Amino acid sequence: MISQLLLAALTLCVAPQSRTEVVTMKAVRIHAFGGVEQLKHEDAEKPVPGAGEVLVRVQAAGVNPVDWKAREGLLKSLAPKLPQVLGYDVAGKVEALGPGTEGVKVGDAVCAYLSLSRGGGYAEFALVRVDELALAPKKASVTEAAGLPLAGLTAWQALVDEAELGPGQRVLIHGGAGGVGHLAVQLAKARGAFVYATAGTQNQAFLKELGVDRPIDYTTERFEEIATDVDVVLDTIGGETAQRSYSLVKRGGTYVSIVGPPDVTSLAERGVNGRAILVQPNGEQLAELVKLVDEKKLKVAVSATLPLAEARRAHELSAKGHVRGKLVLSVAP
Ligand SMILES: NC(=O)c1ccc[n+]([C@@H]2O[C@H](COP(=O)([O-])OP(=O)(O)OC[C@H]3O[C@@H](n4cnc5c(N)ncnc54)[C@H](OP(=O)(O)O)[C@@H]3O)[C@@H](O)[C@H]2O)c1
Repeated sequence: MISQLLLAALTLCVAPQSRTEVVTMKAVRIHAFGGVEQLKHEDAEKPVPGAGEVLVRVQAAGVNPVDWKAREGLLKSLAPKLPQVLGYDVAGKVEALGPGTEGVKVGDAVCAYLSLSRGGGYAEFALVRVDELALAPKKASVTEAAGLPLAGLTAWQALVDEAELGPGQRVLIHGGAGGVGHLAVQLAKARGAFVYATAGTQNQAFLKELGVDRPIDYTTERFEEIATDVDVVLDTIGGETAQRSYSLVKRGGTYVSIVGPPDVTSLAERGVNGRAILVQPNGEQLAELVKLVDEKKLKVAVSATLPLAEARRAHELSAKGHVRGKLVLSVAP
């Protein structure tokens, strides 16, 4: 009897130290690849920041077409581990710092594009590498900040890094009303280019508001009869649109695709530089984009904000291919 009491007392004493405490958070995860029904709004383990990582209390998470492509399993080779928290764009406050995270402090408002191999944005807390984040824009809402990173970096890496777009050049931006396109249009204008952009009839006024010099309605006009001899094409559409666009770039110009490799051989025969890019996280470039937002040269147009729990609806909307500007999930105030 005495020994039983002793054992019980000992158990009571050691139990709290030996048990590993699992702290949970709400997240949207997939346990298998497939349709929207695979998105589960559920409890998941709250992550702990390691070296070079910052824990961000997510307030808003941007939605991108790559999110539903990842859900369908198209990024399996990059991120094979399940269950997986989806989402690559976040805005929120720094909650905790891992070792080696100089330059940022608890409470800072930040935004980031999380690499495609890690994701984790559809959650109350996300791990962000310190070199992936930037301080959030002061002149934008948290939902706008969440819509900036992936699409903005894509536009930057296509137009600045690859095309080296400069003043007086002429650029054709396909899908000018979309997430990438609407930021690319404004970036091109900020760099002094003449901008042609394509969109449907319902988005022509939006293109004008963004500063497009010659909006093109792809449902009623043939863009190849309007945007001839351009220095740069940014292709966010692909397929037949790509085929019809190759001959529009003048010798020495650049054709940048974000939707798969263009026909580089035929482009090279015409003296055009053909490129396909896959956007990379980059905190320094994101800070440049944030600066443009604060200077009022770049505005993230958020056309719809849905609660995190409605991620399924967000994926359905995105997959239709006609989102104007950005779609954002609201996670916390
Ligand atoms: N390689 C990379 O690193 C990278 C990075 C980001 C995105 N992407 C890919 O690039 C594509 C675009 O991304 P996103 O975020 O901009 O997508 P998004 O926001 O979903 O784009 C929607 C826009 O596309 C426009 N659109 C649809 N069909 C069109 C057509 N035939 N001609 C012109 N515009 C058309 C729509 O305008 P209307 O409603 O007026 O038709 C709509 O505003 C996606 O496939 C995405 O996965 C790749």
